[in-house]
Amino acid sequence: MTYLVTILYIVAFAMFIYGLSGLTGPKTAVRGNYIAAAGMAVAVVAVLIDIRDTDNWGLIVGGLAVGVILGVPPALKTKMTAMPQLVALFNGVGGGTVALIAWAEFLDSDGFTTVDAVPSVPFIVGSLFAAIIGSVSFWGSLVAFSKLQELLNKNFEKKVVASAKLFQLANIVLALASIAIAVYIGVQADPANDPTPAIWIVALLVVAGLMGLFVVLPIGGADMPVVISLLNALTGLSAAAAGLALNNQAMIVAGMIVGASGSILTNLMAKAMNRSIPAIVFGSFGGDGGSGGTVSATGGTVKATSAADAAIQMAYANQVIVVPGYGLAVAQAQHAVKEMAAMLEERGVEVKYAIHPVAGRMPGHMNVLLAEADVAYDAMKEMDDINGEFSRTDVTIVIGANDVTNPAARQDSSSPIYGMPILNVDQSKSVIVLKRSMSSGYAGIDNPLFTADQTSMLFGDAKKMVSEVTEELKVL
Ligand code: TAP
Repeated sequence: MTYLVTILYIVAFAMFIYGLSGLTGPKTAVRGNYIAAAGMAVAVVAVLIDIRDTDNWGLIVGGLAVGVILGVPPALKTKMTAMPQLVALFNGVGGGTVALIAWAEFLDSDGFTTVDAVPSVPFIVGSLFAAIIGSVSFWGSLVAFSKLQELLNKNFEKKVVASAKLFQLANIVLALASIAIAVYIGVQADPANDPTPAIWIVALLVVAGLMGLFVVLPIGGADMPVVISLLNALTGLSAAAAGLALNNQAMIVAGMIVGASGSILTNLMAKAMNRSIPAIVFGSFGGDGGSGGTVSATGGTVKATSAADAAIQMAYANQVIVVPGYGLAVAQAQHAVKEMAAMLEERGVEVKYAIHPVAGRMPGHMNVLLAEADVAYDAMKEMDDINGEFSRTDVTIVIGANDVTNPAARQDSSSPIYGMPILNVDQSKSVIVLKRSMSSGYAGIDNPLFTADQTSMLFGDAKKMVSEVTEELKVL
């Protein structure tokens, strides 16, 4: 049976890695996801075989049932726009599980004093690391979820962001306290000592949990995707540490894969925003975490246009660049956009799509949306590839995007998004910005593009207005 378990683990690892490799391209991503999920099912079966003599089958089946009941419906029903919240929540649950495992191991071994004649260092260090990072990840992810779901009071969020320095001080104290408690537990972990009271592991979980809350609370909305990815990497590492403690290879491998891929993704996203990870964790950036609530007052003149005028402008252009953003996802305008592009292409206009790496609310959000509408992959251009083209483009139509087009990131050193790479839409000969109002984007800041000389605003819902433009193109 042990051999069978080992073989199943190896099969599961191979499926994780093969599945992950599928996630490198939109065409293979869905299949990759299924393969990795099937790999996880194989790992679960292996664990169940491994622990077949347990008396706790009732609890195990109950736990699996609760997991399925709570996990499957939101995964099926959650809209693409709310996916980051779901990821944050699932990630938090993972971290919380790891923290609970560490707690259970502590209780089971009377504070690691009844583990072995010579307490195993990987067991103790792994458990304590899992307790700290698991708890940080659980509470941090809950805050990230609440921010993205807009459950936190906006005034409260503003006050917290304004007192970021205080939170940083508190975090230094909490980090030192958690290290001190972990060292104390570790030193006591000797069969020669009396059992360590359970209060110590509870103290460790509480202190680490506070740290998770205090680290994420002052972080601004625009940095939240990077934070979620970072927490995801931490959950992976804590799961690997718990695997070390439990001597479970599946947890070690799966945890390390999540930890490594999460770290790479975090790095890539931070790079895309021209931010360092410490600057994200220790600085506050991107307003109060709002998502389009505040009214923009850029001070310039706003020129409104109509669907008919927008259609004429684009119909006589040589090249049109479409800049999709979060609003396109909200309006589910991808099919309408594809139809509009087809009409333009019929007239000989070249249509390209400019994809900013953090447009929307998750990495690859725009690629997935446009792929859903069968937009050709080679028409979707990454930021670095398209930025040089704006200056020779007749019309750029920005559909529900805001922050990723904000020239303040390039021009205004006092702007909170200064330094973030943006799509150089403002260099285009003329710009049409399609959105419902003058509201700000996710970062909660004004966008001078909207009042630039070459810009006209097409106000309305993205899907409705794009369809109107298409109708106008049909009669031109
Ligand atoms: P945002 O800056 O958030 O702007 C989206 C705009 O869409 C809003 O200004 C809104 O204006 C408009 N909008 C909303 N619903 C609409 C509808 N039905 N029809 C037309 N327009 C609509 O989006 P972005 O430019 O894509 O930038 C992404 C931002 O989100 C960045 O700040 C990024 O850091 C952050 N973020 C990114 C991710 C990832 S990984 N992609 C994850 C979380 C957060 P109106 O209200 O006036 O319509």
